[in-house]
Amino acid sequence: MNPSNPESDQSLFIRAALGQATERPPVWLMRQAGRILPQYRALRAGFPDFKAFVKTPEAAAEATIQPVDELGVDAAIIFSDILVVPEAMGLDYEMIEANGPRFPKVLESRKDVEALIAGTAAAQRLEYVYEALRITKTALAGRVPLLGFAGAPWTLLAYMVEGSGSKTFSKARRLLYAEPVLAHALLQKITDTTIAYLKNQVQAGADLVQIFDSWAGELPPEHYKTFAVPYLRQICEALPEVPKTVFAKGAWFALEDLAALPCQVIGLDWNIAPEFGKKATGGSKVLQGNLDPCALYADATSIEKETLAMIRAFGGRHIVNLGHGVYPDTPLDGVRAFVDTVKGFRYGQ
Ligand code: CP3
Repeated sequence: MNPSNPESDQSLFIRAALGQATERPPVWLMRQAGRILPQYRALRAGFPDFKAFVKTPEAAAEATIQPVDELGVDAAIIFSDILVVPEAMGLDYEMIEANGPRFPKVLESRKDVEALIAGTAAAQRLEYVYEALRITKTALAGRVPLLGFAGAPWTLLAYMVEGSGSKTFSKARRLLYAEPVLAHALLQKITDTTIAYLKNQVQAGADLVQIFDSWAGELPPEHYKTFAVPYLRQICEALPEVPKTVFAKGAWFALEDLAALPCQVIGLDWNIAPEFGKKATGGSKVLQGNLDPCALYADATSIEKETLAMIRAFGGRHIVNLGHGVYPDTPLDGVRAFVDTVKGFRYGQ
């Protein structure tokens, strides 16, 4: 409890994540540390590219704290990217301005997979992330909890095989049919690295970790069961120290399997009705989400109405968020209306 500022009390978010009753749901936004904030754009302008920024711990810590100061969200998420893990494994990426990530070299053969660095040896190369977490943790001084994160093994495989985002992910999906043994070997290497990486994040101060499976919705249900869920399970089982959130975008069909994972929170995208999410997870998990990010382009009255309707539909055991990352051109007033609505809400009133 932080008596000087009960509204941003660290325990609100963690209590909610643990499924305990709270006076209101906590609120934060995926991708809150980013381009929606003018302060972020100003800080970012001082670096030649995204990677130089990510690798400067003091700057990453500042970007992490900006949305807490500016918007009053109930959690900070460390400023980094899911693609730092493939890079640490030996597969370098470029972040192309206004376009997205690109891997100049992709995985094409067993030899390529064998050449990857994995586990603690790869995680050791991410010291800049741990340093950013330590700086942030000290600077936050308990105002709000600090979230760590990583990409899910399937989503990282998709980038490492495709070399960028894709309309169909046909190369990555092809690998699962054509070379399942190789796919499993790669997924295991990514998993071993992710476990070591997240353990280090926890040691550096992360209070909860979220796993982003952004391309979950590309897989048929049977493949999600075979090539995604077992690796998510290994990661969750390896991290008993902190609560865990699994956000598998587009994976409405896998909610029952996700509900059986040893994690506390399941993230939902905006395609999932709260009622459906609650039923499919059997009330066993705290649910996070899931307003359509586009709702924040409307006026404040509409945002308030949509946000309250969502909170009431979940009816508790809920962490408020969008159904995916906030879009960079979202008006700041819209984001504020969203956060302020949640902070003014009380269950039972
Ligand atoms: O949530 C946060 O605020 C913390 C920081 C964070 C970033 N990326 C910073 C970032 C997090 C949690 C991520 C996760 C991430 N990165 C995901 C999973 C979440 C999702 O959106 O599904 C994925 C798929 C990526 C890969 C990635 N990084 C893409 C596709 C892009 C380009 C598209 C875009 O949003 O610009 C990035 C770049 C990126 N990562 C930026 C930021 C702030 C923008 C680049 C910049 O500021 O120069």
